Order: sequence, then structure tokens, then C-alpha cells
Amino acid sequence: MLIALEGGEGSGKSTQAKVLYGRLCQAGYSVHPRPLREPGGTALGEKLRTLVSLPREVLAAVWGQSLVTPQPGSQLAAKELWLPISAAAELFLFAASRAQLVSEVIRPALARGSIVVIDRFVHSTLAYQGYGRGLDLELLDHVNRLATQGVAPDLVILLDVDPVKGIARKRRAQDMSRFEAEDIEFHRKVRQGYLELSQRDPQRWLVLDAGLPRAEVTRLVWEWVAPRLPARPASAAPASIPEKPKRLL
Ligand code: TMP
Repeated sequence: MLIALEGGEGSGKSTQAKVLYGRLCQAGYSVHPRPLREPGGTALGEKLRTLVSLPREVLAAVWGQSLVTPQPGSQLAAKELWLPISAAAELFLFAASRAQLVSEVIRPALARGSIVVIDRFVHSTLAYQGYGRGLDLELLDHVNRLATQGVAPDLVILLDVDPVKGIARKRRAQDMSRFEAEDIEFHRKVRQGYLELSQRDPQRWLVLDAGLPRAEVTRLVWEWVAPRLPARPASAAPASIPEKPKRLL
């Protein structure tokens, strides 16, 4: 079983992914030994993550070359803080990360019968590159199919957040990304996209208000997930968490 957490910036889904992962371990389920995240989760994916998420001054420091060429006397605009990446190039970077993660980690884990928890999956591409950037949804569906070899999430948990509140929350945590440089209208489209996707497939989606207290979100997630889990082997005893996840991979 594959369980994906989705949401806009600052929705708290990464925290909820870790908590859900911990609960599944404690309840004795066979769980892939760490929660996954996209982009990332493989050596290639983590490199791609740095490309799409680190400011280009940081990338320049890592690569030992200047990627910042402001006009003399001008200040960098918010969007120029990140490496220029076109909408199509961005799509392929996320798709490349996904293709590697599916073939290297997710498929083998599912084949072993493990439950896999993932922070973002195919619907992030539909919401951000489709509804947000305006790329054709059908085309994105094809790219997603190519990347996933048909692997789809069984359950999707959407933490729905007002973008103004979510971005403020992320800024407080000093966890900026290239998407925060987009105007608020971009994030409204992403949110609307997620809500539309959830309405198309309500059996598979749980939509929660990310503004609820964190413990309440945790409770509602478990209340919905628990009855949908596969039967545990009779011998399964509550297990200790195999590895305390310090960060998502
Ligand atoms: P995160 O920091 O929430 O883990 O996600 C990284 C950023 O990448 C986030 O702003 C959303 C974006 N993203 C896409 O635009 N498309 C995708 O397919 C994925 C997986 C992430």
C-alpha cells in the first residue's frame, strides 16, 4: 500500500508523514523503513532536489562558480534568487526524481508487501506544474505514468491550507523554496487544483483543514487510515520504530 501526503506550502504534511510512519511502525505493520519524500529519496533525487530548491548563490558556492549575474547596481528580484528553470525543465526534473524513486525504492518495497508513506507524489505535479504553471494535465498524466510505471497511491491525504497562512508559516520556519517567489495567485491555483483532484476521487482522498491543531490533524489522519490498512499478519506485535527519521528521504 502506498500512502501519499499532499498539500501546498506550509501545510504541515512533512510532519504528518513522519507521525503516520511512526504510528504504522508502532502498530506492527510492515512499513518501508523510512518515510520518503519527493523530490528526493535516492542519490539522484536528492541532487535534483537541491537544484530545484536551493538559492543559486548556494548552488554557486557548492559548484564553485558564479550563477548570479545581477545588473550593476540592481538588487536581485525574488524570482532571481533561484536557478532559472523553465516550466518544462522543472517538470522533467521532478519526473526524473520520481522515476528513480519508483524503480529503486517504491516498487521493490511494495513488492515486499511493505506500506510506503510518501511526502508528495504524482498529484504534486498535477497541482503545481498543471494547475499552477498551466501545463496540460493530460500530458502530465502521461509523464507521471512513464515515471511511475503505473504505481499509484492507494490513499492520498490532502492538508488543505490557505496559501497566505501556509507561506507565512514556512517563512517563520525559514524554509523558503523557489515556489514561494511565485505570486499568491499561483498558490491559489495550486490549492484549487488539489481540491478539484480530491473531488474527482473522493474514496481515495482525505481532505483535512491544515489549520486545525497538529494533534487533531494527526488523530483525524489515523482515524481515516487505520480502517483502510491491509490485515496485519496474526503474529504481528507492536514493533519499535526501526529508525528514528531525522529527515525525510
Ligand atoms: P517540499 O519542500 O514541500 O517537500 O516540496 C518541494 C517543492 O517542490 C514544493 O514547493 C512543491 C514542489 N513540487 C512540484 O512543483 N512538483 C512536484 O512534482 C513535486 C514532487 C514537488
